[in-house]
Amino acid sequence: MNIISANFLVSNTNPAACPSPDKKEFAFIGRSNVGKSSLINMLVNRKSLAKTSSTPGKTQTINHFLINDSWYLVDLPGYGYSKISRAKSASWGPMIETYLKKRTNLVTTFVLLDPRLVPQAIDLDFIQWMGTEGIPFALVFTKIDKLSRNELVKSMQLWEKKLLDTWEELPPVFSTSADDRRGKETLLNYMESLLATK
Ligand code: GTP
Ligand code: MG
Repeated sequence: MNIISANFLVSNTNPAACPSPDKKEFAFIGRSNVGKSSLINMLVNRKSLAKTSSTPGKTQTINHFLINDSWYLVDLPGYGYSKISRAKSASWGPMIETYLKKRTNLVTTFVLLDPRLVPQAIDLDFIQWMGTEGIPFALVFTKIDKLSRNELVKSMQLWEKKLLDTWEELPPVFSTSADDRRGKETLLNYMESLLATK
C-alpha cells in the first residue's frame, strides 16, 4: 500500500471527543517505550510525525493521524510504566479502555511486544482483557534489529506457547523494526486488506 499523505489531526484525553467515526482506523498499544510512535512514523515514512522519546511515558493522549485522506492511525499512551505519578497512570487505564471498547470504527488494534523480554504478565493481562472484551487485535514484535534471527524465533515461540495456554488460536503476528524498516510492507498490506473489507 502506498502512503501518499499522513497528517496529524488531533490529540484527545476524552475518547468521546475523538474525530467522528466515519473513517476506518487502526490503533497501536503496548508497554511504554515498546516503540508505538516509532512504528507509526516508519509506516508512513515520516521521521517525527508521532512524537518519540527514549524516556518511557512520552505519548499521553489519544493521537489521530489522517492517512491518504481516508483512514486513521491512532497512537495511544503506553501502559505499565510504574515511575509515572500514580494519579496520571490511573487516568490512562480508563481512557484507553473506554477508547478501545467504544470506538466503533476501530478495525483492529496492534498490540506491540518487546521480543527481548520473556512474556510479561502485564502484556498477557492486557491481551486477555482484549479477548474478554471481544476487541479485534494483532500482535507486533518490535525492535527486531536488536536481536539475531535465532533469538527472535526463540522469543516468538516462547510468547506464542504462553498465549496458547489460554487461547485456542493465535491472532495475526507481525515483526517489525523502525530502525531498518523490516516488516513495513507486510503490516501495510495487512491493513490494506482490512480496509478493503466492509
Ligand atoms: P511511549 O509513548 O512512551 O509509550 O513509547 P512508545 O511505545 O511510543 O515508544 P517510542 O516510539 O517513543 O520509542 C521508544 C524508544 O525506542 C525510542 O528511543 C526509539 O528510538 C526506540 N525504538 C523504537 N522502535 C525501535 C526499533 O524498531 N529499533 C530500535 N533499535 N529502537 C527503536
Ligand atoms: Mg509513544
